[in-house]
Amino acid sequence: MSLSILVTGGAGYIGSHTVLQLLLGGYKVVVVDSLENSSQISLERVREFAQDHAPKLSFHQFDLRDRPALEKLFASEEFDAVIHFAGLKAVGESVQKPLMYYDNNIIGLIALLEAMAAHGCKKLVFSSSATVYGWPKVVPCNEESPICALNPYGSTKLFGEEMCRDVYKSDSTWKIILLRYFNPVGAHPSGAIGDDPRGIPNNLMPFVQQVAVGRRPALTIYGTDYGTKDGTGVRDYIHVVDLADGHIAALNKLSDPSFGCKVYNLGTGKGTSVLEMVAAFEKASGMKIPLVMAGRRPGDAEVVYASTERAERELNWKAKYGIDEMCRDQWNWASKNPYGYEPCVSTD
Ligand code: NAD
Ligand code: UFG
Repeated sequence: MSLSILVTGGAGYIGSHTVLQLLLGGYKVVVVDSLENSSQISLERVREFAQDHAPKLSFHQFDLRDRPALEKLFASEEFDAVIHFAGLKAVGESVQKPLMYYDNNIIGLIALLEAMAAHGCKKLVFSSSATVYGWPKVVPCNEESPICALNPYGSTKLFGEEMCRDVYKSDSTWKIILLRYFNPVGAHPSGAIGDDPRGIPNNLMPFVQQVAVGRRPALTIYGTDYGTKDGTGVRDYIHVVDLADGHIAALNKLSDPSFGCKVYNLGTGKGTSVLEMVAAFEKASGMKIPLVMAGRRPGDAEVVYASTERAERELNWKAKYGIDEMCRDQWNWASKNPYGYEPCVSTD
């Protein structure tokens, strides 16, 4: 019998890649997504690619805060574990609309934890973020590095982690993995699924890809005076398929009877500057990315990259892909889907 996994936010960027890897790995997958920041087409593409495994995927469209809908789902199906991606993730928007972020990310998590507890499903993988390291004084960031929140989005990740730790402290039969993702980029090598943010992209690579396909005139580089090799910010970019595989490794860990509640970084351990990333994308795509140099973006850190030792040692997981493969797959997705999952020109 295959294990049954509930994936919240499974139609989104990281979720859809993880759902595909789960199906290919033989799991049964139930997705709950409100589609507030995604398209159901992502799951149709996952089904096509999963072929014989496709019947093991089912989808329910509702908001996690809809408790009757959540209760109905848990009453009708038994889950071995839950992977919780659902949430809002735009840092700038969270500063403008903090209560919307607290409402979605915190109330959504509470509703989920309560439904899980009520139905005796006590294995959870929670999407946290490297954002909790703020502007780190020491890199690489390891799981014991100091954590803080620089914006409401970051606060929801910090509180989310804390809530999970408290739930475990109150009932040690829970098994919870908190995954701190660094910077997910790239797409499935098929080019069938990828990142398709609504409106103007906040993150570097979705913006670069929209410049490459002619949707935007130039990339603005936020900050050229950092104390880095070329003055631009340094991040730990990780291929989204590696990240998806990290979730399978986490699920395997949750089956260890002595496991409790623990945090793991998912990154590559390598720092890459904005200009290096742009150069790698230009090489992979053969496209020229026009640049506009600008001042620093408020709230941005200078250098952030992961120590990956704990995940390597305890989850038996290590990222396989480098930035050339990330850019190759990002371009493959972008060139095949210049408007993301939309068939034609969007109005953003
Ligand atoms: P995404 O927006 O593509 O996916 C999130 C999904 O959750 C979307 O499909 C959205 O429709 C759904 N959703 C949002 N609120 C919901 C709710 N209340 N009920 C049901 N569905 C809801 O984002 P992503 O990049 O795939 O990120 C997934 C998770 O990983 C998020 O929790 C995010 O904060 C975290 N994360 C992302 C990054 C990143 O750079 N992409 C980095 C670190 C952490
Ligand atoms: N950048 C630009 N121009 C852009 C976008 C980004 O120069 O148009 C630069 C940023 O200044 C930064 C780097 O590219 O130096 C990466 O920026 P991203 O916005 O892609 O990623 P961040 O590391 O700033 O933040 C993202 C999410 C956070 C999350 C973090 C780690 O927005 O919520 O990745 O996962 F915590």
